[in-house]
Amino acid sequence: MRPSDKEAYRTLLVEWNDRVAWIWARYYVAAAARIRERLLDVAEVKPGDSVLDVGTATGSAAIAAARRVGETGRVVGIDTSPKMVKKARESAAESGLITLEFHLMDSASLEFVDSSFDAVISCFGQPETPWDVPTALQEWRRVLVPGGRFCHCGEADSGDERFAERFQQVFEKHKVRNPGPGLTATRRLRSLAAKEAKQAPRWEANLLETAGFAAVRHFTETFEVTIPASASLEPSLMWGMLDEYLAMPPRVQERFRQEAIKAMRPFETREVNVAFFVARRATS
Ligand SMILES: C[S@@+](CC[C@H](N)C(=O)[O-])C[C@H]1O[C@@H](n2cnc3c(N)ncnc32)[C@H](O)[C@@H]1O
Repeated sequence: MRPSDKEAYRTLLVEWNDRVAWIWARYYVAAAARIRERLLDVAEVKPGDSVLDVGTATGSAAIAAARRVGETGRVVGIDTSPKMVKKARESAAESGLITLEFHLMDSASLEFVDSSFDAVISCFGQPETPWDVPTALQEWRRVLVPGGRFCHCGEADSGDERFAERFQQVFEKHKVRNPGPGLTATRRLRSLAAKEAKQAPRWEANLLETAGFAAVRHFTETFEVTIPASASLEPSLMWGMLDEYLAMPPRVQERFRQEAIKAMRPFETREVNVAFFVARRATS
């Protein structure tokens, strides 16, 4: 992928995440509550800690961490989406927690000095450009104090693909066959990014070791997650497919929505396999 294409794709990702901020806050934050608390347990977040939450989105893990670190601690959440950060700041203000701040920042180039945090956490918050993950991991290690804790969780490769497959089938049936120039450009970028992602290093223990982490371990746990079918449809569309949807004639849009919601209904409550990666910055 050329650097200019990578930059254009990054810009699209920010737009897409901006669009889903409201629905993330409304449905996904509640659905992921048990996963989030498990992440904080595994990262051993405790009173007095300073914690960085990367890819904080609307700030839910950062807010939960701030409750644990108390008034002697400090939590910073970062994200590249201005709307996510805005929502996170609003939620923080409502929570009354004073040790919490949010910044617009790329997790692959952190604006913090070395050894700033006792823990770095990431709840499904890796760079969405997978080719940036090795650089991001080096950054996350750099800002940890020696001995500092790192914990990331994300959907495991061993997950149930039926949900995505069913959505894709419905989409393929209704998709526009003769796209205009805007949609053609977005499709090109998506296809280039998908190819690049296939070549990017996978989340594995040695990826963390290469980035300089020590005591690396990983495990997978299964969580039951409930999200209404109509609430699953919106991010599936807004995140990357809005151009496709808007290019459909109105009658096709309506049929597509109805069929997609029907196809997603059996998966409103489903089991999600979550992979946890845990490590420390070496003490020397
Ligand atoms: C699945 S959401 C994270 C959910 C959130 N951690 C929570 O617990 O609710 C992924 C987030 O990562 C952000 N993101 C993607 N790439 C990023 C990057 N390179 N740096 C910082 N944030 C990034 C997106 O804007 C999005 O808000």
